[in-house]
Formats: sequence, C-alpha cells, structure tokens
Amino acid sequence: MTATDSPQSPESPSSEKLSMGIDPYERNWMVLSVALLVVFFATVSIAGFALGFQVNGVDSEVDPATVLDSEPWASPGLRQISEDHYEAYVVAKTWVFEPRELEIPVGATVDIFVTSPDLQHGLKITDTNVNMQVVPGQVSKLTYTFDEVGEYPYICHEYCGSGHATMFGVVKVVPATALAADGDDAADTEDAQSQEDDS
Ligand code: CUA
Repeated sequence: MTATDSPQSPESPSSEKLSMGIDPYERNWMVLSVALLVVFFATVSIAGFALGFQVNGVDSEVDPATVLDSEPWASPGLRQISEDHYEAYVVAKTWVFEPRELEIPVGATVDIFVTSPDLQHGLKITDTNVNMQVVPGQVSKLTYTFDEVGEYPYICHEYCGSGHATMFGVVKVVPATALAADGDDAADTEDAQSQEDDS
C-alpha cells in the first residue's frame, strides 16, 4: 500500500477538517441575507395588506383598434354609480389624456379604468397610490378613495414618444357642496340670462 492510497494520507482532506463549521465571515453574510429576506417580505406584506398598495389588475381585454368606437370609451369621463361611488374612464393616447380633468367630490370612491388605443402609456396620479401601466388591448383598473380636497395632477410615466411630456391632467377633489353649488350657479346664471333677455 502506498501513502497516497491511504485515507489518512496528508494530501486528502480529513473528515475532521471538513466539519469544522462555517467561517464567521461567511456566517455573518448568511445571517444578513436571511434578515434582508425577512425585511423585504415584511415590507411587501405591510404595503399590500396594511397600506393597500395594489398591483392594477387586468379588468378586461379590448380591441385597441375599435375600443373608442363604443361606450363607455366613446365618451370617457366620470360616471356616478351610487351616492359616493364613481367610475372614471380615462383614455391614454398619443399624446393626451381624455379627459384632462376629473372633478370628484371629496370622500368619493372611484374605480379608475384606463386603456390605450395605440401604444403603451402610464397613468400615475400624484399623492395617491394610483400608478398603472396602460397597455393597448387591456383595460387596467384601480380603485381609490379621495379623502382630501385638493388637486392631484396625473401624468403619463411611460415614455411614449415626442409628445410624452404633454400627457398630463388633473383630478380636482372638491367639497361636495362645491359641486352642488356649481350646478346651482350654472342654473342661476341661466335664469339671470333669460330674465335679462325677457326684459
Ligand atoms: Cu404617454 Cu408617455
């Protein structure tokens, strides 16, 4: 028997050396990696379940070539479903949003539907968690409750060509009384106008 044939020869690693445990440096990195995974998992869980951050779902599929020919997309805008529940249909196309302005009474919950007849766009409403990809052929949907009066500009956040920077609009969240007053004002003005015409 030669020395190299022996399992105890100096060249072959001894089983004792192999089971000496993990290098502290390597162990620290392993602990750190697992800790980071736990932190990431917790972050995503809290964002999703406690703070309500959602990924927009595909609400339905449409034909981008003909989607604007029929309702509701032929006349995008706001629809009232019940007292404090609305639907907003927004078209994102090169290079404009239709409509460019949405006026919503404070406290209203809005199902926001958006689609594109041409290329990929984006819809991000500032100071909210509404942030959607707008893909031709698909209707994206997110629901948001506007609890504070104010102006919430929206933009296209997906580079879509030379007019990309011109794609913006604004959600105006107004006191419920202001909306009713708007209607009254309009009626009053019309009344005043017709009275003037009569005299
Ligand atoms: Cu549409 Cu950028």
